[in-house]
Amino acid sequence: MQTKTIIITGASSGLGQVLAYKLAQDNNLILAARNQEILEKMKKDLNSHDNILVVKTDIAQNKDVANLIKQSVARFKKVDLVFHCAGINHKKPFYELKESEWREIFATNTNSVFYLTQNLHKYCKKLEFVYVSSISAQIPTKLYSAYSAAKIASDNYLKAINKEWKALKITIFHPYRLKTNFGSHYEEKYKSPSKHKVDPDLYAEMMIAKIDGDRFKTLFYTLKTWLVRFGQIAGVKTN
Ligand SMILES: NC(=O)c1ccc[n+]([C@@H]2O[C@H](COP(=O)([O-])OP(=O)(O)OC[C@H]3O[C@@H](n4cnc5c(N)ncnc54)[C@H](OP(=O)(O)O)[C@@H]3O)[C@@H](O)[C@H]2O)c1
Repeated sequence: MQTKTIIITGASSGLGQVLAYKLAQDNNLILAARNQEILEKMKKDLNSHDNILVVKTDIAQNKDVANLIKQSVARFKKVDLVFHCAGINHKKPFYELKESEWREIFATNTNSVFYLTQNLHKYCKKLEFVYVSSISAQIPTKLYSAYSAAKIASDNYLKAINKEWKALKITIFHPYRLKTNFGSHYEEKYKSPSKHKVDPDLYAEMMIAKIDGDRFKTLFYTLKTWLVRFGQIAGVKTN
């Protein structure tokens, strides 16, 4: 990957954090999440040549997103690429979902995409926007009603605005289960066993290969991801 200025949302954990560690060496990074303490610690770990900016951001708040973009442009003059990894779910039957949970799911997974693209459009003629959606957007999943709806809404919003904003390049990923903190707040009975999850490191390699336009590596890591998953389903130890 050529040196780029990259915003990573959800950088304090899971996939976003793994991407940050992989991309920090050769790029300018803006790390965004609510947990500033973790982001500052990551910056300390990574900051060999002062190429990392931490911006505490609640991605569900337009004013925070506006501040994130403003600070990013002020510091690095431009933004080339966004990895929008921040996301949340509440896994439960639809009739138990509280209105506040529905709102949080949409605010975090969907409104955030609107805020990011609107604010970025003010500063960037050209932009690459990577959205971490979910398999639940493609295959609506029981106990994931609001989440499935929020992710597909974002997918379609991005595809629609791409018809207006031609210099926007969008890439949407639809992960299945990743071994991250996602869902750690679910009720015990709704938690998926971690042996059925893929290492975010492997998934991040696949994402980077795809963004780099490296077809061979993309295919390699995609196949590896699925092999690991089938192996897990079949009970074979593959990672
Ligand atoms: N893990 C899976 O099995 C799975 C499967 C399919 C799709 N996905 C998607 O993959 C993406 C990455 O998830 P992950 O697995 O890496 O989960 P994770 O470990 O729980 O990380 C989620 C990240 O989102 C951030 N976040 C949540 N709410 C936020 C808010 N209001 N403002 C700013 N940041 C917020 C969190 O940071 P703070 O708490 O510090 O704000 C954290 O950094 C998500 O979009 C998720 O929907 C995950």
